[in-house]
Amino acid sequence: MAEIAKLMDKLVSLCKRRGFIFPSSEIYGGLNSCYDYGPLGVELKRNVKEYWWKAMVQMRDDIEGLDASILMHPRVWEASGHVANFTDPMVDCKECKARFRADQIEGAMCGSPAYKGRKASKCADENKFTEARLFNLMFKTFMGPVEDAANVVYMRPETAQGIYVNVYNVMQASRQKIPFGIAQIGKAFRNEITPGNFTFRTREFEQMEMQFFVKPGTDMEWFEYWKAQRIAWYDGLGIRKTKLQFHQHGPTELAHYAAAAFDIEYEFPFGWKELEGIHNRTDFDLKRHAEYSGKDLSYFDDATREKFIPYIVETSAGCDRTVLTALIDAYDEDVIEGEARTVLRLAPVIAPIKAGVFPLVKKEGMPEVAEKIFHDLKKHFPVFYDDGGAIGRRYRRMDEAGTPFGITVDGQTLQDQTVTVRERDSLSQTRVAIDKLLPFIQEKMAGYKRMV
Ligand code: GAP
Repeated sequence: MAEIAKLMDKLVSLCKRRGFIFPSSEIYGGLNSCYDYGPLGVELKRNVKEYWWKAMVQMRDDIEGLDASILMHPRVWEASGHVANFTDPMVDCKECKARFRADQIEGAMCGSPAYKGRKASKCADENKFTEARLFNLMFKTFMGPVEDAANVVYMRPETAQGIYVNVYNVMQASRQKIPFGIAQIGKAFRNEITPGNFTFRTREFEQMEMQFFVKPGTDMEWFEYWKAQRIAWYDGLGIRKTKLQFHQHGPTELAHYAAAAFDIEYEFPFGWKELEGIHNRTDFDLKRHAEYSGKDLSYFDDATREKFIPYIVETSAGCDRTVLTALIDAYDEDVIEGEARTVLRLAPVIAPIKAGVFPLVKKEGMPEVAEKIFHDLKKHFPVFYDDGGAIGRRYRRMDEAGTPFGITVDGQTLQDQTVTVRERDSLSQTRVAIDKLLPFIQEKMAGYKRMV
């Protein structure tokens, strides 16, 4: 347990130190569960999103992209069931004043410093909790200057609804036919009762969702197809297979809209937890939007002359949660030549910086050659120039940032126009001609397989 807590502490500290993730509004003491992505974090997050977009939109003929607004007509959330059902049961501890989700008491710890180490279940056994009351997780705000009930709008708690209300706009504009999908990446907001575990559960987060519209009767086939596609995607991201599993939702876990649901779970330091949900949402969503909007949302299949409300198979991944997973999975410590190092074994496709460029010493023309290499490579991918300190320390700094390659310009470079390329994981060092450097690194990146 102490080791696990230590790993999270070390990761949080590395994220702050190296500029991956900072607490929000830190100079004001922070804002609970809100985080900012720093220079390395924003690159990592963009890479995760681009990798998802490429796999889910650009590489496919049957999926279109969308970027819908966060604020939607309030009736959307009545139709979706969120106004009535998007609630968690909440209890307060009368003694320490901490607030818990009534269905997550097991394993929770008392929130107050005065009761540190005390289990919430103990308070439950001693009847210290208030009656459970339902709490709606949607953030509300007002459209326009008048703050009354008529002007209430919600910050979307999922991106999915923006897709459902646009299905026929997209279908007509792109001339797609069923089966086809719509993908979207965007912010979602949930007023979680118990956010925590760093960026695992926050109140503002990004989702990467894809809704696949299919003919009723073919839905379970597509559901299985998408389960297989989605778990394979994490392999490409460099996440170890042994750390991933499916969890099938039992009848009591199923969301109000789902006929079948599987989570892809990752073994976090705090247990197996959901990373992504794959849901068979049946015709629930489009039927409800048809009912609440008064519009006919049925599909006419020209080939079979059939009319039906499409079923929806959804893949819903958390972007921040995927970034956290990538960081946790990549975090490693080892010893090189008697010296401890911290290394992020990030797959090159998501690594914020692909290569560090180092002149061995700041003289004899080495900086000039290194700077030229730096500027040439920069046109192709993010590289970092570092001429400060011993070469070993410069390698370590890049290891900690997850940079897969280190390029060193040394005395030999000036003789034969070659440099040393050091690989972060194998620590192998290869001499490569400067004019072959770009294809060498590109080939290595494309063929990357996690070793440890
Ligand atoms: N449209 C379906 C949907 O939103 P969900 O299981 O509630 O399904 C999907 O959410 C994914 O969004 C989760 O698997 C998780 O990765 C991410 N997610 C949900 N709530 C989150 C939160 N409070 N903080 C960070 N990520 C969250």
